[in-house]
Amino acid sequence: MTVKTVSTTPFSDQKPGTSGLRKKTPVFMRPHYLENFVQSIFDAIGGARGKTFVLGGDGRYFNDRAAQVILRMAAANGAARVIVGQGAILSTPAASHLIRLRKTDGGIILSASHNPGGPEEDFGVKFNTPNGGPAPESVTEAIFEATKTLSEYRIFEAQDVDLSVVGRTVLGDMQIEVVDPVADYAALMESLFDFPAIRAMFSDGFTMRFDAMCAVTGPYATEILENRLGAAKGTVVNGTPLPDFGGMHPDPNPTWAKALMDEMFSAEAPDFGAASDGDGDRNMVVGRGIYVSPSDSLAVLAANAHLAPGYKAGLKGVARSMPTSAAADRVAEALGVEEFETPTGWKFFGNLLDAGRATICGEESFGTGSDHVREKDGLWAVLLWLNILAVRKESVREILEAHWQQFGRNYYSRHDFEAIETARADAMMEELRGKLVGLTGAAFNGHLKVAEADDFAYTDPVDGSVSRKQGVRILFQDGSRIVMRLSGTGTEGATLRLYLERYAPGPEGLDLDPQEALGPIIAAAHEIAGIERHTGRREPDVIT
Ligand code: G6P
Ligand code: ZN
Repeated sequence: MTVKTVSTTPFSDQKPGTSGLRKKTPVFMRPHYLENFVQSIFDAIGGARGKTFVLGGDGRYFNDRAAQVILRMAAANGAARVIVGQGAILSTPAASHLIRLRKTDGGIILSASHNPGGPEEDFGVKFNTPNGGPAPESVTEAIFEATKTLSEYRIFEAQDVDLSVVGRTVLGDMQIEVVDPVADYAALMESLFDFPAIRAMFSDGFTMRFDAMCAVTGPYATEILENRLGAAKGTVVNGTPLPDFGGMHPDPNPTWAKALMDEMFSAEAPDFGAASDGDGDRNMVVGRGIYVSPSDSLAVLAANAHLAPGYKAGLKGVARSMPTSAAADRVAEALGVEEFETPTGWKFFGNLLDAGRATICGEESFGTGSDHVREKDGLWAVLLWLNILAVRKESVREILEAHWQQFGRNYYSRHDFEAIETARADAMMEELRGKLVGLTGAAFNGHLKVAEADDFAYTDPVDGSVSRKQGVRILFQDGSRIVMRLSGTGTEGATLRLYLERYAPGPEGLDLDPQEALGPIIAAAHEIAGIERHTGRREPDVIT
């Protein structure tokens, strides 16, 4: 076995987005493409020599091949040890946990999250820092810089490592530890939640459906929900991870998890439904006949977290991404704890969690998590819901309605317009940005008056770093809000995300259909931004 130094030339498109580098799988499979990016990661973090990394992915097509390449490159770059999930599988939260638990120098996660997988679909590579969280912008910028000047990479010439069995092996001088991807994660969950109470609820006849969408959470959910908590066999559906996710789009939202939604709104609906995404960090929660919006879920979890053993001491603070509804702010206020509004991207929560200023974080994009890891965590959110249901002995609907009575309701929805021609989307955003200053005081639909309009900028309260142009906000005098930004995770053209919010203080008017409640705000958004004029689209592709 020898170390080979391979000459290469830079690729101009290796700038990490909201969550690592995502491209179509054939792009990643081009000669040198993956290797260039991996070498750039090692170079950007001061080399791999003597370091320990975690490696795993969501099992999508090319996951296994990419893992072998990365192992050979880690060995050639002098890494001391790589801890890899059996079969090169690790959910994103499980990887985050392992990075922290084993006090490593970080990890490489192979995933394009909720994007479809397969030979013609999406692939992704993400580096997480030693705190277990996605690399902050300073690190992703350094990686991008490294990709621009790369002239060679190092790789071991060797046979594939057998990752099918748990155990230890070596590649040159590098130790490889193949671990059970579920065990440490399941133990962590057991330490946070009242498993006996949840088990008792299941044995009293509580019913649940968990749709793993043929993605990575299947083995985790089966072990935890069915084996440890005693949920009926068959509670977990689509539980075997497949390289193409069985053709599913593993994004847990009402559009892509339609089968689950249909079941939850049927006469035979179980008490509780949940789904997770490709790499296991997202979650959608549904009660019998009632959908829980992610923003509401965050607020309910924050308000009730003290019912779970891991959070009985209370929360230090609550953080949400800017486009997420303000429902969680009201809870933070009532709890008397700090509330943070960050740009989109889980990486922005890392500093707050590390500094002990936030305990629970959430995003409208179906992400919720806490300081137990540094990623959002789909199963964690589901288990916290189960813990709350087991203690309160009320239905999801009862809990949500009581929450709205206490705090008021933030009607909320996101409209996505996908695969827009990039130039058109950019032109629309440019025009909108140019309009912002003049918007203050303008009225729409007769009564909606603009109080303020800006492009969100964030100053990290921990390290002072500033992130600009994080989304256009149009705030109305009655507390309603429009936010518009372009997605940083899409791989095809541009995706416009239009976020809509309206606050109803109650006690009346809390049970409207969100799309109806938001009707005037939706109309104002189209009028202000000229979405149809720019994109030719009136109807969104996805509504959450
Ligand atoms: C990933 C990130 C999230 C982010 C989401 C949507 O899941 O981890 O933090 O909210 O993508 O990002 P986008 O840029 O597509 O709106
Ligand atoms: Zn994900």
